[in-house]
Amino acid sequence: MRIGISGASGQLGAATVAELVRRGSHDIVGISRSPERVSAPVRGRLGDYDRPETLAEAYAGLDRLLIIPTGEMGPGRRAGQSVAAIDAAVEAGVGHIVLMSSAGTRAAEEPDIYASYWTAEQHLIRTAPRWTILRMNYYAEALLQEARMSLAGGVLTGLGENRVAFVSREDVAGAAAGILSSEGHVGAIYNATGPGSLTGAERAALVADASGQPFSFLVLPEAVLRQGMEQAGLPAPIVGVILSIQEKFVQGGFDIVTGDVERLSGRKPRALQDLVREAFSGR
Ligand SMILES: NC(=O)c1ccc[n+]([C@@H]2O[C@H](COP(=O)([O-])OP(=O)(O)OC[C@H]3O[C@@H](n4cnc5c(N)ncnc54)[C@H](OP(=O)(O)O)[C@@H]3O)[C@@H](O)[C@H]2O)c1
Repeated sequence: MRIGISGASGQLGAATVAELVRRGSHDIVGISRSPERVSAPVRGRLGDYDRPETLAEAYAGLDRLLIIPTGEMGPGRRAGQSVAAIDAAVEAGVGHIVLMSSAGTRAAEEPDIYASYWTAEQHLIRTAPRWTILRMNYYAEALLQEARMSLAGGVLTGLGENRVAFVSREDVAGAAAGILSSEGHVGAIYNATGPGSLTGAERAALVADASGQPFSFLVLPEAVLRQGMEQAGLPAPIVGVILSIQEKFVQGGFDIVTGDVERLSGRKPRALQDLVREAFSGR
């Protein structure tokens, strides 16, 4: 079976390729704008979401394809890229298309950052002959990075109390590889989540425990959070994205725990507690 990964040079793509290589016996094609970054036994192919003419060749002859959206934040940009990739895959005759999407996806209009995932999911369902969707929860790695940056200040901030089922990127990759390399996933929408959903106070306590430093969760009004990020020099579009993610947290968009990672990857997802301990031990 020939399996393509679109976005293979990125962090999630590379981790998915590695999972597939470990499973063996498949012909794997890594696709991105920089196919030279893909190394043997995986074959690299050029495929640029912004140049659909390159995607026809990139997706030719694939039995299955994973489409990983880019991190493009401009309104309509990521949705347009994902739709172009889906159209090219359908046109190229790819038998089964798997789309990486996000928890919290709902009917939404641009510039809501979740509009891109909604648009892509709907387009996939309407047009692909066989499809599967994998919605990832919030990356544990993204929380660890935020905690590292906030440790000196002693607080992790948010717009309200919330629960999030943080998942490691490797576990999302394991689930994706499971879908791509086994049967029985046509028409399924999976949620890749960690083993538990933690409140802001709970995750701050994990960091305090592991680092040995005072660290707590603090709810702030949106204007104060915005001002703090602007004063720290974050560009306006990034501030907007962070605020909308925080809003999704409060709305409960990431408060979902499933057994999908274990079901698809064959291993239990890593707990945030272990990831925090690993990241902050020795400090
Ligand atoms: N759940 C979460 O917490 C969370 C957090 C961050 C990101 N995400 C999402 O997770 C996904 C992947 O994340 P990641 O960390 O793996 O990102 P990443 O390392 O930045 O990888 C992005 C990939 O997209 C490719 N790409 C970028 N522009 C492209 C284009 N025009 N045409 C074709 N390929 C293009 C890149 O390859 P080339 O540059 O070689 O083309 C790369 O392979 C994205 O959808 C991102 O929005 C989720």
